[in-house]
Order: sequence, then C-alpha cells, then structure tokens
Amino acid sequence: MAFMAFMAAVSRAALISRAGIIRSMSNVPENTVYGGPKSQSPDHRITMTQIKQKHKKGEPITMVTAYDYPSAVHLDSAGIDIALVGDSAAMVVHGYDTTLPITLDEMLVHCRAVARGAKRPLLVGDLPFGFYESGSIQAIDSAVRILKEGAMDAIKLEGGSPSRITAAKSIVEAGIAVMGHVGLTPQAISVLGGFRPQGRNVASAVKVVETALALQEAGCFAVVLECVPPLVAAAATSALQIPTIGIGAGPFCSGQALVYHDLLGMMQHPHHAKVTPKFCKQFANVGDVINKALLEYKEEVTSGTFPGAAHSPYKINAADVDGFLSELQRMGLDKAASAAAEAAEKINTSKLK
Ligand code: KIV
Repeated sequence: MAFMAFMAAVSRAALISRAGIIRSMSNVPENTVYGGPKSQSPDHRITMTQIKQKHKKGEPITMVTAYDYPSAVHLDSAGIDIALVGDSAAMVVHGYDTTLPITLDEMLVHCRAVARGAKRPLLVGDLPFGFYESGSIQAIDSAVRILKEGAMDAIKLEGGSPSRITAAKSIVEAGIAVMGHVGLTPQAISVLGGFRPQGRNVASAVKVVETALALQEAGCFAVVLECVPPLVAAAATSALQIPTIGIGAGPFCSGQALVYHDLLGMMQHPHHAKVTPKFCKQFANVGDVINKALLEYKEEVTSGTFPGAAHSPYKINAADVDGFLSELQRMGLDKAASAAAEAAEKINTSKLK
C-alpha cells in the first residue's frame, strides 16, 4: 500500500514537472482535440488562428525582431503579435556586415532565450543561410531543430526559387508553419548585388507578386515583403489570401515588421549607422540613453562618488567588526585592519553618499 502511494506520488510529480517543461516551451497548441493545455491568462500565446483572424478583420499585425531574453520581455509587455528571431542577429548582435555568417546553432541560442522571455507573441525563427538550400531534407531537419531545440512556433525562410518553394512545401507537410520572405532577401546579396530594393521595374515587380503567390500555394501562413515599392506591396497584399508583413514596403501590407535595434535607435555605432536602413523610423534614441548612462557611470567610478552608502548595502554588526579587526591583526595584516577600520568609520559617518 505504501509502495502504491509512493508510486502515485512519483507519477504525479513527474506529470507536474513535465507540464512545467511543456509550459515553458512555446510550440504548444493552445487548444487540442484532447482538450490540451489551456491558456492561463488573457495574455496567452498568440496562435496562428488569431493571426488569421486579425488579418480577416483587417487589423494590422505587428512583428518585431528579438534576439535575447530582455528584448523578448520588452516585446511581450508591449503586446507585439509576432517575435521574429531574425538572422539579422548576425548584423545587429554579432557585428557582421551581412546575415550570412550566422549558424543554426547560434540561431538556436537566440531562439531559446527569446522563448524564455516572450510568453505571448507568436514565435518565428529564421532559417539561417547554409542550412536549407541543399534540399528539402536539409530544410526539414533545420526547421525541426528550430521548433524542438529553439522552442519556436514557426520558421521563416527567404526566397522563392523553385527549390525554396519545394522546401517551404515540404516543411509545411512536415507539420511546421512557414513564413515566406520576398523582395530584398538579405541572404541573397551575392546574387542581388548588395542590399538593394526589389520590384522597381515591371519584371521585378511581377516576380515579387508571383513569388509571394507561389509561397502561399506552398502553404506559408504569411509572407514578409522587404524593400519593395508600396504599390507592389499593395498588389501582393491584394492578390494573397494570407497576410503580408512589410518592412520597407510601405503602408499597404497586412502588418509591419522592424528590427529591434533599428526601431529603438540602439546603435550609435559608426558601423551600424552605415547599415541602418532608410525606411526605418527610429521610435526612440535608446543608444543615446545608454551612452549617457555609461559615461556617467565611468565618471562616478573615476571620481569615487559611486558606489556611495546607498549602494553599499551589506552590513556587518559592530561586534563582528571588532572581531574581524582583531583577527586581521592576529594574522599580521595590520594595514588591512586599519583600512577596514577607516572604511567602517567612513560608512558610519556617512561620508559615502
Ligand atoms: O532577419 C530579419 O530581421 C528579417 C526581417 C528583416 C524581416 O528577416
């Protein structure tokens, strides 16, 4: 009997801890046919169904990139619909000139950090360059890792060549939601000849619309339109039944995306200033705030005003001070004992502010 009770307790504990793990992951359907995990609060994870509903009602969808726990928490508290763990991490976090160098393992570290911080937004992880171009098997394997190891809800891939369309279709068939990305696809700068806007002549504009349609046909749930003229984005948005998310594509899209560091004006670094895109509105000058705070910190440390008493919170009681000073003297550390006594005196007379 005692053994049975013990086993019941063990399996209950296992269930609870398993539920804990599941809840800390993102890619869990909100409702399942088995009545699966129920949302705990009105701020539950945004589902694909909600994205579809927003689109149907004509409500703009918001997407912002996130790369780490703090940025994810900020997106979450602002109520952003989609957190994109973009391969732009290569540029804005790792300091590369392009998005090409970032690896799948590096992306997975960013994905997991974002999944821990963003409990509400739908989580989309970018497939990085070099991890899906060889064929559908490679693409599915990478997409599976983004969901299983990165705790994302969906993946994004760039481009619309026949092999990319096939890869998108295969990933969807493997049970993974895919966001497409057309127009300026930064992973293709080698063939595009740099970070160049697309859709600026008839052939290129038609290609943007055709590619977006092909991605929809492949089963994508949304398509990013990057750096295309607004009328081309309007045409694509009208032609598609799935939402378009514009970045540098004007106002006629179903939603908008921006890179976290760009929209916050985080980088006052000459290298970043070079690559901050023209289309990006800076909604803040966080970089200036950071620079000012670091300069003040440096000045206060240099002048000895930080840390003062207010930021030296840990106390030792008077009896222990005496005991400590005697112990230092016994150890032959008279100079250290004098330094400690002087510090105690200064703290007591609140000479340190
Ligand atoms: O990686 C990224 O940040 C992106 C956005 C530009 C959409 O793909």
